[in-house]
Amino acid sequence: MRHDEVKLIAQALERAGVNLINVTAGWHQAFLPLSTMDVPRGTYVYLAEGINQLVKVPVVTCHRINNPFLAEQILVNGQADMVGMGRPFLTDPEWPRKAAEGRFDEIRQCTACDQRCLDAVFSLKEITCTFNPAALREKQFAIIPAPKPKKVLVIGGGPAGMEAARTLAQRGHQVTLYEKSPKLGGQLNLAAIPPGRGEFVHAVRWLSSELYRVGVKVELGKEADAEMVKKLKPDAVVVATGATPLRPAIPGIDGGNVAWAWEVLEHGLALGKRVVVIGGGAVGMETALFIAKQGAMSADAAVFLASAGALDAETAVKMTLQGPRVTILEMLDRIGQDMGVTTRASMRHHLRLHEVKVVTRATARRITDKGVIYEHGGKEELAEADSVVIAVGSKPETGLYDALQGALPEVYRIGDCVKARTCCEAIEEAALIARKI
Ligand SMILES: Cc1cc2nc3c(=O)[nH]c(=O)nc-3n(C[C@H](O)[C@H](O)[C@H](O)COP(=O)(O)OP(=O)(O)OC[C@H]3O[C@@H](n4cnc5c(N)ncnc54)[C@H](O)[C@@H]3O)c2cc1C
Ligand SMILES: Cc1cc2nc3c(=O)[nH]c(=O)nc-3n(C[C@H](O)[C@H](O)[C@H](O)COP(=O)(O)O)c2cc1C
Ligand code: SF4
Repeated sequence: MRHDEVKLIAQALERAGVNLINVTAGWHQAFLPLSTMDVPRGTYVYLAEGINQLVKVPVVTCHRINNPFLAEQILVNGQADMVGMGRPFLTDPEWPRKAAEGRFDEIRQCTACDQRCLDAVFSLKEITCTFNPAALREKQFAIIPAPKPKKVLVIGGGPAGMEAARTLAQRGHQVTLYEKSPKLGGQLNLAAIPPGRGEFVHAVRWLSSELYRVGVKVELGKEADAEMVKKLKPDAVVVATGATPLRPAIPGIDGGNVAWAWEVLEHGLALGKRVVVIGGGAVGMETALFIAKQGAMSADAAVFLASAGALDAETAVKMTLQGPRVTILEMLDRIGQDMGVTTRASMRHHLRLHEVKVVTRATARRITDKGVIYEHGGKEELAEADSVVIAVGSKPETGLYDALQGALPEVYRIGDCVKARTCCEAIEEAALIARKI
């Protein structure tokens, strides 16, 4: 239904005596993503605004409003009379109190990852929140002071290590966290780089600032090894050393035309005009989209030129979609198998817009200077490429955990260093271990 028609219905509803109108953009019926991270915050406020101009009863706006400043601005602008929120209160049930008390930095913002709320609905799993595993399980995840405060070392400053360290400190333990790189966040820093995935920055920011707020001693740029850990004589060690990219045994992988998804994301490497991404999981799909947007006109440039009349809007939008030609090769029969259903659908929508070619049931056999030879339906074919990007998954970093076995009384491991998965498992395992020690 079009906005003009909805406006007529809203006016009719007011005449019929309704006392409030809650405007959402539709749900299963909507052809556009509504809730996923790629939907910019506040995208659908204009729908409520259009109705608010026509009716006198209070109008509520919602969807992707996760931050008190945005909510306040909508009210100040008169775009709506109230702001409705769903997921932000799963991530932080204290959201309204913290906002009212001006404790804005303490608000744990919903990232719109959908992984443990809406995706859970669609896969008939228990609903909670990736970044707040206590959501809807408050009793099981209550924070109970430790009977005996211990000296605990946490190794690794990714989401698992940070969640464990902050919870341990909240329970009264004396906690030191070692992170080998100069910054906290681990892989979540990379996860925040592809287009439409930027909300993860706030998860890193919140976890990092909580570490300092609850008194964790953070040692950045310090790689922990078994000897160093043993010398510090901790009562308990939590190993959260994460994962690193898998290196497939494909002939030609050492060629100058090959790059790794993680380095493409981290450094924005310049690639050729035709790029083949080997691996169509979450990281492969997101990296393919990132590459497809490199070299195309940026959204900011399109608005800048179109609003000045230098380009018509349609041409400007088209130019944002004209990046390198990208092909994804995936062995399985579907891409994005490791992604939640809502994000997979929106990611496929963006890949289609950018005309990224997807070949499933395709096994990469060799990389040459012409591209990737792959096997598909019993025949070998060539996917032409100037650059090839590898995104075939990760392997757990188990070295430190293995070396500490039997050397100290309590050694635990959590997150991707158990098995490379997602933040859901990393944070939940951290939350559980930190309540046990
Ligand atoms: C591009 C990309 C996109 C992703 N997208 C998503 C997504 O949409 N949703 C999702 O849930 N997950 C996503 N993930 C996966 C998610 O980021 C990981 O599952 C999660 O970060 C694992 O957390 P972790 O703390 O166990 O490990 P990591 O994040 O790998 O952190 C481990 C940390 O330990 C440090 N470390 C290692 N060894 C030592 C040592 N000896 N001493 C000190 N420090 C050490 C490392 O430097 C690192 O900072 C994505 C990952 C990538 C790469
Ligand atoms: C776990 C969960 C289940 C939901 N189920 C439905 C539903 O069945 N029908 C519907 O119209 N909206 C549903 N919603 C959407 C909410 O009613 C609300 O409109 C939306 O969450 C608001 O956006 P926000 O979460 O970004 O604040 C659901 C939301 C969540 C988080
Ligand atoms: S699982 Fe993700 S989308 Fe759902 S409430 Fe938590 S942060 Fe928000």
